Amino acid sequence: MKKYLLIILFIVAGNLHAQKSTKELIQKLSLEEKERIVIGSEMEIPWSEGGDTGVGEVGGNVPGAAGKSLLNERLNLPVVVFADGPAGVRINPIRKDNPNKTYYATAFPVATMLASSFNTELMEEVGKAFGHEAKEYGVDVLLAPALNIHRNPLGGRNFEYYSEDPLVSGKMASAFTNGVQSLGVGVSIKHLAVNNQETNRSRINAIVSERALREIYLKGFEIAVKESHPWTVMSAYNKINGEYASESADLLKNILRDEWGFNGFVMTDWFAGEDVPKQIRSGNDLLMPGTPKHKGMIVEAVKNGELKKEDLDNCVEAILNIYQKTPSFLSYEPTGAPDLDRSKLIAKKAAKEGAILLKNEGTTLPLSVSEPKDVALFGVGSYKTIAVGTGSGNVNMAYSVSLLEGLEGNDLKVSQELKEVYQNYIARTLDSMPKKAWSFGPDKILPEKLWSRTELDSISKKTSVGILTINRTSGEFYDRKQAYDFYLSKEEDTLLKSLAEAYHSQNKKFIVVLNIGGVIETTSWKSYADSILLMWQGGQEGGNAIANILIGETSPSGKLPMTFPNRYMDHYSSKNFPGRELVDNPFPSALVGVESEVVYEEDIYIGYRYFETFNVPVSYPFGFGMSYTTFEIANNSINVNKDGVLEISCSVKNIGNVKGKEVVQVYIASPDGNLEKPSKELRAFSKSKLLSPNEYQNIYFQIEPKDYASFSTEKSAWVLEAGTYKIMVGNSISNISFTESIEIPNTLEVLKTTKSLVPNREISKLTKKSMNIE
Ligand code: BGC
Repeated sequence: MKKYLLIILFIVAGNLHAQKSTKELIQKLSLEEKERIVIGSEMEIPWSEGGDTGVGEVGGNVPGAAGKSLLNERLNLPVVVFADGPAGVRINPIRKDNPNKTYYATAFPVATMLASSFNTELMEEVGKAFGHEAKEYGVDVLLAPALNIHRNPLGGRNFEYYSEDPLVSGKMASAFTNGVQSLGVGVSIKHLAVNNQETNRSRINAIVSERALREIYLKGFEIAVKESHPWTVMSAYNKINGEYASESADLLKNILRDEWGFNGFVMTDWFAGEDVPKQIRSGNDLLMPGTPKHKGMIVEAVKNGELKKEDLDNCVEAILNIYQKTPSFLSYEPTGAPDLDRSKLIAKKAAKEGAILLKNEGTTLPLSVSEPKDVALFGVGSYKTIAVGTGSGNVNMAYSVSLLEGLEGNDLKVSQELKEVYQNYIARTLDSMPKKAWSFGPDKILPEKLWSRTELDSISKKTSVGILTINRTSGEFYDRKQAYDFYLSKEEDTLLKSLAEAYHSQNKKFIVVLNIGGVIETTSWKSYADSILLMWQGGQEGGNAIANILIGETSPSGKLPMTFPNRYMDHYSSKNFPGRELVDNPFPSALVGVESEVVYEEDIYIGYRYFETFNVPVSYPFGFGMSYTTFEIANNSINVNKDGVLEISCSVKNIGNVKGKEVVQVYIASPDGNLEKPSKELRAFSKSKLLSPNEYQNIYFQIEPKDYASFSTEKSAWVLEAGTYKIMVGNSISNISFTESIEIPNTLEVLKTTKSLVPNREISKLTKKSMNIE
């Protein structure tokens, strides 16, 4: 006991010491030096000098990093380096001072795919690998994880984000953050909040109810802040209910700090917001990346009384408290040589766990490796497989394994004839396309090669099975389009259906692989495929991971972290995505944003919350994903105590023939009281270990009242309303193994909050009542 007390005293004393020394340091700083702390280094480097990334090489040794702090030689404060991003450490692989060495970082699967693993332990391991690479390459703060909600399937950055569900987003972000920060490198959880579209992203005003904010758009951030204590938070570009996120004291002070207990610092997204003194006053501590126009602005604002010295000091203190912990401040010498072989294995493991089997007729998959005939690989994506998306979610990777390379590397015979045709086609098409001057902006996917039916018939005779890869890419600055991105192109549709007919007429199987970063339409064509494997954008090891699954070395265990709707317009949010421009704008994109607004009329009914509650049929439901084996989930006991704490104990057993993992998901239907509730909400999940046939595992969940309460706008509080709660446990939202009810006799006020981010006008909200749903 004494020993623990001593340790605690020691930690407290250590913190006090750090705080005291920060305060002492602030005393020594001149006003000009304080300004240099709250503004990023590009204040002194013209944007154009930085080239593609916009970051010059002055004041730091990590070219290609997204931003840096300014050096203070007088007080010996080193430069702190910030680098993206959600799929890997985004830095330049080549440095001028050492052209013979490379600094490639590992491209992990995109965040959506990581979330599809539903495996928080794996996420922590992935986070550690990110943290290790960041640290050894000289990065102090990683600009990830990104955890905005997939409000609409066309969101251009959905691939960088986890899910349409805040619990999945929050849990994944926490595990990842814990992993990164265990290495002594910070994260920046981003983009707080409601950054759900790219169109006009820096001027859009998102009008959202307090309840939808709390239950959906802020919830993931709340979980991540409380469970993993991120060193930094990045505020979003957009406005929320009329105020820029980076200028909102409601968001950055009341909610983030006072309510959630955040004690790191907040940085802007790059060039975000308008009113610099207001940003500082509102608790947005650091302006990134800094621009020459910022120079002198803070000094002037303090001098003319627009900004209080104490407000500035608070920001400087928050920043320095974190900087003190960074590798750069601790004089860590990065080796420039992280263990990339280890990262590669983790990237592959993550891709294997995030791949989702959507359909598997009979014994289509796994493929038989002993089959003497060749596998026919169709689709440019089979040869030029997309590893990650574009923009700041991109990674400069050393290599990327295509599906072709993955299959060949796993001893599968692939049709060489087809391979040659495709490789020539791709080379020719690439040559004829204009080169992109900038790595940002959406890469055009190559148009599909067209085949005549006679050609397809001839190839299907010579090969054992047909595989078609459909691919998509997207990235920062642009939202996806319904035509081309969400729906298949006419060429893709024709190729898919003709291939199915050609192979089926030979009594052979036809498989579709989806190499995509966001949801696409599947309803109109899924009956043509015998199997559909959603490989997402699997990072540099994607091709190897998918090959492992196709040949059955690994049984798929990923689950959908979002719904695949039948049609785009089935999402209620499609009615008002991406909002309305308030002035004429000939260039609708994030780059030249104009004043615009988007009203979140769907309110809390995002994703499955909408489809389930309003009985709208979908193509593939939330939480869905098949396996090569079968599992049985059985109920052991469900109890609730007088304080509303729920305990669920169940078991998951592999009753099939091969090894596999299963995700046990707990949904709750809460009773309608003063507040109406979605008909199911995910309240807990857990992934099993690898279970051999006949093996089982006991799974235990404890769910606190705050984790299944709803937000009452009237009371500004989380409440657990009295009534009957239906607890449903299963392996997807639409496959529930058992249901049990519990009673909450009296309404409990679980957590009081402050009235914040109030919309300044009526929102015509979707409700069950308005749609006559009981
Ligand atoms: C993105 C951020 C990113 C930053 C630095 C911005 O355009 O929105 O997510 O971290 O650039 O690259």
